[in-house]
Amino acid sequence: MFYILAALILLTVNPSISENPPEKKPKPSPTPFQDWDYIVYSQRWPITGCSQWEERSSQNTCSLPHDNTTWTVHGLWPTKIGANGPFFCNSAIHFDPDQLAPMMKELQEYWTNVEANTKPNSLWKHEWNKHGTCAASLPLLNSVTNYFKQGLEWNQDFRLSSMLSKSNIVPNTQGYNISDVYNAVKVATGKNPEIECVVDGKSKQSLISEIRLCFNKSLDLIDCNVSKFGGQDGDILSNCNGNKNVMYFATVPNNTYTEEVIRDVYFDDVDEPNLEICIEYFNFQGRLLKLYSIIKFLMWFTL
Ligand SMILES: *[C@@H]1O[C@H](CO)[C@@H](O)[C@H](O)[C@H]1NC(C)=O
Ligand SMILES: *[C@@H]1O[C@H](CO)[C@@H](O)[C@H](O)[C@H]1NC(C)=O
Ligand SMILES: *[C@@H]1O[C@H](CO)[C@@H](O)[C@H](O)[C@H]1NC(C)=O
Ligand SMILES: *[C@@H]1O[C@H](CO)[C@@H](O)[C@H](O)[C@H]1NC(C)=O
Ligand SMILES: *[C@@H]1O[C@H](CO)[C@@H](O)[C@H](O)[C@H]1NC(C)=O
Repeated sequence: MFYILAALILLTVNPSISENPPEKKPKPSPTPFQDWDYIVYSQRWPITGCSQWEERSSQNTCSLPHDNTTWTVHGLWPTKIGANGPFFCNSAIHFDPDQLAPMMKELQEYWTNVEANTKPNSLWKHEWNKHGTCAASLPLLNSVTNYFKQGLEWNQDFRLSSMLSKSNIVPNTQGYNISDVYNAVKVATGKNPEIECVVDGKSKQSLISEIRLCFNKSLDLIDCNVSKFGGQDGDILSNCNGNKNVMYFATVPNNTYTEEVIRDVYFDDVDEPNLEICIEYFNFQGRLLKLYSIIKFLMWFTL
């Protein structure tokens, strides 16, 4: 534990070491950027996102969409069958915030950076660098503009709050059986979604965090793949607790900062964050990742 910690602290002061961290297995060769099978389109319930963010620090503040029914885009994630990623592909296209200017209003409202006290472009930059660079192997998504436009378009085409409310699932304080939530989306789209929950550090309640839809390389909606989680046909694709109701709150619960929430927001879009991804992200973003987050992440990782 301390050795890894020391190694990572070294990384923070000397990025050149990061090419070859001591005692790290040789890096597997990076996945070619076109080597993926389908896109996972992830939307967040911003109320849950905000609750998680505020729990992590008493300094944290949120920005929420004006329309209190909006599920916001998290990202479009190219995915290989049976795996997560690829991530951070070797695309020549660099993130350019100027390209987002014409759609800034829509991005703020529908692809909201809920974590208000972060850099204004940080969510979009991260999504582009980690996932957009891989998506760019498709002509339909081969620019920053096309990637973000597609995310906004799907947000309008697949309005989760309307889909859910048609099955009488509206935000409340009692929560819902996860099968009912899952079936509501499945009935509305005709395809299997994936649903992710997070556990609230303080109340230990399971909160609905993200609902994901899957698309093939023609950008047609397809079933998310059951075998990804080692399940079988008919299973629910979800990490949510099936033994008690999952919460779909209308407003951010009255949180207080708690030490127990140690997941970093930058890792929340992989099922099983691992050290390699951590280091990769670290290399990429340089010193942007705070040491605090690394220590918290390591605690999570090693516990
Ligand atoms: C689901 O994944 C498995 C391997 O994990 C693969 O064999 C199968 O073809 C996939 N099904 C679909 C519909 O993509
Ligand atoms: C995507 O799905 C649509 C509808 O099922 C199908 O017509 C199309 O051929 C698929 N595209 C690819 C690349 O698999
Ligand atoms: C949720 O619904 C499923 C299927 O109807 C049922 O088997 C399960 O017991 C329910 N869970 C809860 C917590 O009510
Ligand atoms: C959402 O906004 C509508 C219209 O402004 C308002 O009537 C409603 O009470 C709000 N719902 C919640 C849960 O805040
Ligand atoms: C939130 O909780 C704190 C401490 O538990 C309490 O002092 C405060 O009044 C609560 N605020 C609301 C709006 O319930």
